[in-house]
Amino acid sequence: QWTMSSYRETAVAAVRRQVGKRKVIAALSGGVDSAVTAVLIHRAIADQLTCIFVDNGLLRAGEAEKVAAVFANYLKIPLRVVDARSRFLQALAGVTDPEQKRKRIGGLFIEIFEEEAQAIGGADFLAQGTLYPDVIESISFKGPSATIKSHHNVGGLPERMRLQLVEPLRELFKDEVRELGRELGMPEDIIRRQPFPGPGLAIRCLGEVSGPRLEILRRADRIVMDEIREADLYDHIWQAFAVLLPVRSVGVMGDSRTYDETIALRAVESADGMTADWAHLPYDLLERISSRITNEVQGVNRVVYDISSKPPATIEWE
Ligand code: XMP
Repeated sequence: QWTMSSYRETAVAAVRRQVGKRKVIAALSGGVDSAVTAVLIHRAIADQLTCIFVDNGLLRAGEAEKVAAVFANYLKIPLRVVDARSRFLQALAGVTDPEQKRKRIGGLFIEIFEEEAQAIGGADFLAQGTLYPDVIESISFKGPSATIKSHHNVGGLPERMRLQLVEPLRELFKDEVRELGRELGMPEDIIRRQPFPGPGLAIRCLGEVSGPRLEILRRADRIVMDEIREADLYDHIWQAFAVLLPVRSVGVMGDSRTYDETIALRAVESADGMTADWAHLPYDLLERISSRITNEVQGVNRVVYDISSKPPATIEWE
């Protein structure tokens, strides 16, 4: 009979076979997939693994600190932290096309992984938390009519990359990855994390990505997350987040006219991310989120709620 603990043993053995005595680099994103991948590979090959965390400046408020703390204090796996915030901002300057954003981000990630591989005296493999739905979506949408979204886990990596991939989660759905994480003894607050895309806030900052616009988005997003948690909905929703639209609109504050940014609130229910329904959040929660964002985040005068399901919309806006 198939169980997650036997899957764990099989996957550990497969990693050992693939890697042999060579070295692996695992990049943590703060999400469940990359964390489970790293812990599984660590179980298989211990210190032949180096974990790195690239702070790309595209993370949610407080994420970078949280990842570092969990790995250091709880999992006791050494972590190299690379501050690449300004490099990512530079790579994204002037870029508005969603696929172009993914390409630039994927390309820079690889550049940094290769630098890090050199810094540790050479590595042969890069670990990736690719899941089964990523594999399916990037195959089935890749016809002559082009990819829908090149999830950078799979499609966005440059071909020139020297590192080979280790992808121990390729056969799993998200709920199975969470089960595997529990099987590996990982803390619940990592396991229950809502998914977060590799390109991060760059694909939630519609139009051009800049430091100040990211800051507005990050503040609004923090309010969304706080309120969703406060309402005890975090574990019941697949994803909830803020999107900064490339639209300004007219508002009024006191006696004066404003012409400020718009935040879209996105919250969906889903089993695997391949289809999704917009979440019917309670009106009083929507009201709190809206009034907090417009009161507390300078530069935002309007909040809208996205009531589209997938398909025909996707979960992310880019
Ligand atoms: P969409 O927007 O395609 O999202 O309905 C489905 C799931 O995938 C996540 N997503 C990504 N994850 N790199 C990632 O690692 C990406 O480029 C990317 N685009 C979307 C999204 O957050 C949702 O969970």
